[in-house]
Amino acid sequence: MCGIVGYIGFEDVKEIILGGLEKLEYRGYDSAGIAIANNNNVYVCKEKGRIKDLRGCLDVNVTGTLGIGHTRWATHGVPNKINSHPHQSCTKRFTLVHNGIIENENELREKFLKDIEFTSDTDTEVIVQLIEKFVSEGEEVELAIRHTMSELEGSYALAILDKEDMNTLYAAKNKTPLLAGKGEGFNMIGSDAMAMINYTNNFYEIEDKEFLKITKEKIEIFTIYGNKVTRDTYTADIDASDTEKGTYPHYMMKEIEEQPFVIRKIISEYSDENGDLFVEPEIVENVKACDKLYIIACGTSYHAGLIGKQFFEKIAGKPTEVVIASEFIYNMPLLTEKPLFLFISQSGETADCRAVLVKVKQMGFKTLTLTNVKGSTLSRESDNTLLLYAGPEIAVASTKAYTAQIAVLSILAAKVNNKINIDIFKELGKIAYTMETLCDDKDNYKELAEKFLVKSRNCFYIGRSMDYFVCLEASLKLKEISYIQTEGFAAGELKHGTIALIEHDTPVIAVITQESINLNTRSNIKEVKARGAATMVISLKKLSNETDDIVIDDVNELLSPLAAIIPAQYLAYYAALLKGCDIDKPRNLAKSVTVE
Ligand code: M6R
Repeated sequence: MCGIVGYIGFEDVKEIILGGLEKLEYRGYDSAGIAIANNNNVYVCKEKGRIKDLRGCLDVNVTGTLGIGHTRWATHGVPNKINSHPHQSCTKRFTLVHNGIIENENELREKFLKDIEFTSDTDTEVIVQLIEKFVSEGEEVELAIRHTMSELEGSYALAILDKEDMNTLYAAKNKTPLLAGKGEGFNMIGSDAMAMINYTNNFYEIEDKEFLKITKEKIEIFTIYGNKVTRDTYTADIDASDTEKGTYPHYMMKEIEEQPFVIRKIISEYSDENGDLFVEPEIVENVKACDKLYIIACGTSYHAGLIGKQFFEKIAGKPTEVVIASEFIYNMPLLTEKPLFLFISQSGETADCRAVLVKVKQMGFKTLTLTNVKGSTLSRESDNTLLLYAGPEIAVASTKAYTAQIAVLSILAAKVNNKINIDIFKELGKIAYTMETLCDDKDNYKELAEKFLVKSRNCFYIGRSMDYFVCLEASLKLKEISYIQTEGFAAGELKHGTIALIEHDTPVIAVITQESINLNTRSNIKEVKARGAATMVISLKKLSNETDDIVIDDVNELLSPLAAIIPAQYLAYYAALLKGCDIDKPRNLAKSVTVE
């Protein structure tokens, strides 16, 4: 969702801010803007559309060494130039960018800002007008910002410029990610480390309700009450090249093909010095000690959780329930006496998950987060964290994070191991090799996408047992980037209603990797074929027929989702490519979903 970058230092800020915003493009946005402090003035430029559109309208002659930038994913007010950030106060003294949602904007307008003529439809404008109001009533700028923070209900990451002080960048945070980057002779802020990684790898985490006063020499962090906070910096586990596409046409392709490497990296990160399985003992103990594991996640991470449940129940013998985060709050399952909550989130910032985390912590339960982003909100706020080690995932469609989630879940289940012994590293090693073989067959997937998918309005993925969970993820991949309406369906359930949707040439893709269901799913394929469907089969070699379209080398059946998803990711990629869709930044979607 929205992204923020800010810089104060000695270089011209234009490219620093625009480059930083480009690094945040993956989060999803529909407009962008920049403000540059220039000769006791603040130059503002904003535009609907992409960063390249913003570049197109920017006055290249404006220079400055202090600036803020923003990518907006519209929530309040349509995506247009006026609603884009930065927003300015009525006298234009203060200029501000904001990520998040202000829930009490109407009350604040009513209480403090009745006389103000607003120029946009955003909740954000309330913040900048409030700061100006409190300053006009005699408050010092710092106090006015903290006073404003204390009036706000909701989430915010803010970057603020004051026209009357060209040597300071102000920032604040609540429930929305924000990091400060420390440099030599400059300092930065950004929604994530990637926005700043070309300049610094030295970051301060910022806690909720903290306020920052930043000059080119120092970063000062304060509580909302004005008390100074001291904190050490940390380095992020990424380098600048991780965030580049290299020779790949799209991040999604790069990330699909990184999966074998990621699996091997996970094996090494979860090994001790003897090469044995290592997971932080406290985490293993917490899983062993709980009477039920509740997995909370959204989207692709939820799909990984469904497979994780199989591992925990079949390998670790631990009862597990998987709940969609946005449903949990309103429809909480009857909890056991000693539950453990496992949050799965690539970004570690998903607001729906965080809402559950806050709630279950209040209830006194133990929490664990599985995430790709060290230092992310969910990671910081949980009792323990397991990292994915997948490297930055930039494409909105999650690929390598999904398989990394499954791999780490299998490792945790194998470590707890109460039921069956599994040489998890050996099996994951086979998976990495099989993934490579599957990646080598991409021309085949392209042909299949062209033949089966490109001209279709809708499509079905069908499977049973573990294959059904793969189908859910495969269908999400296809629909989110190619816009083909796709359903992942339990193959045996088709005949109970949905088979009515099968028409001449409706694509039905069957996934068969489990011996126990092979014959049943094959019967379901015959049923849809008899009704005109165009069928495609992805199967494990030992279960395959001559006519199957994609055959996967034999791997452990429990881990087969890790292999079976690879062709499905490619099918989605090629269907989107052939349809001319924006693969890495599909419409309406954001990578990091920081609103509930
Ligand atoms: O960062 P998270 O894993 O918490 O994100 C959850 C979903 O928003 C995410 O998996 C989404 O479904 C992906 N775009 C799917 O490719």
